[in-house]
Amino acid sequence: MRAAAARWFRDCYGRDPAGVWHAPGRVNLIGEHTDYNEGYVLPFALAQGVRAAARRRDDGVLELCSRQAPGPAVRVAAGPPTPGGVPGWAGYAAGVAWALMEAGYAVGGARVAIDADLPQGAGLSSSAALECATAVALTGLYGIAIAPPELARLARRAENDFVGVPTGIMDQSASLECARGHALLLDCRSLAMAQVPLDPAAAGVELLVLDTRARHEHAGGSYTSRRRACERAAALLGVPALRDVTDLAQLDRLRDPVLRRRARHVVTDNRRVLEVTALLRSGDVAGMGPLLTESHRSLRDDFEVSWPQADVAVGAATAAGALGARMMGGGFGGSVIVLVAAGRAARVVAAVGEEYDRRNWPAPALVPAAAEAGAYLMT
Ligand code: GLA
Repeated sequence: MRAAAARWFRDCYGRDPAGVWHAPGRVNLIGEHTDYNEGYVLPFALAQGVRAAARRRDDGVLELCSRQAPGPAVRVAAGPPTPGGVPGWAGYAAGVAWALMEAGYAVGGARVAIDADLPQGAGLSSSAALECATAVALTGLYGIAIAPPELARLARRAENDFVGVPTGIMDQSASLECARGHALLLDCRSLAMAQVPLDPAAAGVELLVLDTRARHEHAGGSYTSRRRACERAAALLGVPALRDVTDLAQLDRLRDPVLRRRARHVVTDNRRVLEVTALLRSGDVAGMGPLLTESHRSLRDDFEVSWPQADVAVGAATAAGALGARMMGGGFGGSVIVLVAAGRAARVVAAVGEEYDRRNWPAPALVPAAAEAGAYLMT
């Protein structure tokens, strides 16, 4: 994979890169729409991700090309680019250069060639992987040492303030800080984190990720409107963030039933993250099944971010004997995660496929999902 990315760099720029950096996509076990409410999340990094092959340019110009977006290289003039001024995929990468410069880091120009094996819009965090690959590449090229939590913050800034999507800190943290064989428990308020062992095979289970092939688009207003609803609920309850609500009875003070349901999802999903963490620490991976399915119901009925293909996948998988299943990511498209006893995967996947077939939906794609390491320089 390093070789392929280096070859792509040569195709783009006619010479060798100085290095190839990898940043992975992520699966979130549980804790959805909790990050921007200063709560908990529990993602793990995939093997699949984004590679940035890169080399310095002395004139300050940033050149970007992507194997997944054919066309001439995008050229960003020397100096901090203008937020919103670089359209499309390249905005995520240019935004990282901007965030680094804004923070006072002396990154200069570069040629960057992007290559990815992560489906876009599948809810596996391809944009954060692109940001993080660019971040480790640019800081690597210029010998700038930035602690991973700070680098995650800057990569997120690229997405929030350059591209203009108000996402939380989960995806960039996962891409930069996950460890192989572990999920990352992240407290999105303090940014305290713990590596939680995740070894499904040792527990006699398998985690499946099914790409429902329905595509999501964060720039759409629904993610933002959910975020605003949470902020409104917190303000009405007089707390800094919904993270501070631990007693569900407090939510009775919200008169608006929609706000009450939105908040209930956040409060209950935060609890579920801590419950799943405790189960994983005790080696009971199978025990999290019912919590996954509860989380799905909560996202479907209270937070209302699920989509038909996810609901059908979760329903068919659990009916076929899965231990639990839920939609993953921001919602409105993307992937579902399914927990099955070892040996049951084929039957469960076939059951989901049959339900899709009956509806004339394209078959879901099975995405290999093992807990791998966060971003690194490929050697
Ligand atoms: C997207 C965002 C994350 C998080 C999830 C929902 O992946 O990028 O910050 O809010 O949605 O949990």
